Amino acid sequence: SEAAEDFVIDEKLINRIFKPREDFSHKGTYGKVAVVGGSYGKMGAAVLATRSALKTGAGLTFTLAPKCGYEILQISCPEAMFIEGGNEQIEDFKPESDTVYAIGPGLGTHEKTAKGLLEFLKGYNSPLVLDADALNIISKDHKNLKLIPQKSLITPHPKEFERLFGSTQNSFERLKLARKKAKELNIYIVLKDHHTQIVTPQGNVFYNINGNAGLAKGGSGDILTGILVSLLAQGYSEEDTCILGVWLHGRAADMAAEKYSKESMLPTDVINTFGDVFEELN
Ligand code: APR
Ligand code: MG
Repeated sequence: SEAAEDFVIDEKLINRIFKPREDFSHKGTYGKVAVVGGSYGKMGAAVLATRSALKTGAGLTFTLAPKCGYEILQISCPEAMFIEGGNEQIEDFKPESDTVYAIGPGLGTHEKTAKGLLEFLKGYNSPLVLDADALNIISKDHKNLKLIPQKSLITPHPKEFERLFGSTQNSFERLKLARKKAKELNIYIVLKDHHTQIVTPQGNVFYNINGNAGLAKGGSGDILTGILVSLLAQGYSEEDTCILGVWLHGRAADMAAEKYSKESMLPTDVINTFGDVFEELN
């Protein structure tokens, strides 16, 4: 096999990937997204991922969540449509063929949710984004890893990575393991950290060097998930989605830190700063 390569994500690469919006376009041009997540007490995670997908350009955005999240979502994200997936937690994942899915933020790991997710994955084979509790559910049995559709994006933080693939001695060994797993499973692993590493199915690694400790707050990961599913639905390749998505998240965080400080900036402020990043790119 070919030797794997390492890259640092820079503005030249980003400008090559970014596609400005077309004048002659309509909502269908920019894809259909469904954020699948939320449970009682964790609806905020689904709201953040949904708002993030909306604010990064998806054409149509749905949120599949339990009934207890209905009003919360309709009020906080009026541009998104609600699909009910259960009462207290999601049990029914209802796949639609023209929709790109992100599953996990605030999902919970209830056994009915786990059963529903694993059923969904058994009958589904398009690339999707798996994060947070979707990864925690998959981690419960290592045989589940084979259910992840080829070319999917998974976005574990170090603890989630360890639950999925086992522990390693240091970050060098962890990256080696990520390369092995990304190849074996034919998936993209977005290994989230201070400097996030994107590992491709070819074993290449893209290092992201923007972003800051103002992101070290609950909800920061949820907005990355919203960005990624939105870019994927807009037609970016899986690799370009990972690179542009992680960079955009970090760039918006750096601009938000200048405006609000690392201490005070919230994931919501980062979402509201996406526009400044797009202005820079356009
Ligand atoms: N420097 C740069 N980036 C950072 C830093 C830092 N010091 N700390 C965090 N980040 C970035 C990460 O790279 C990642 O993109 O913020 C994001 C954090 O994502 P998660 O760890 O998934 O956190 P989040 O999802 O917001 O946490 C909410 O969801 O995944 C579950 O178990 C998790 O309970 C937690 C919940
Ligand atoms: Mg997370």
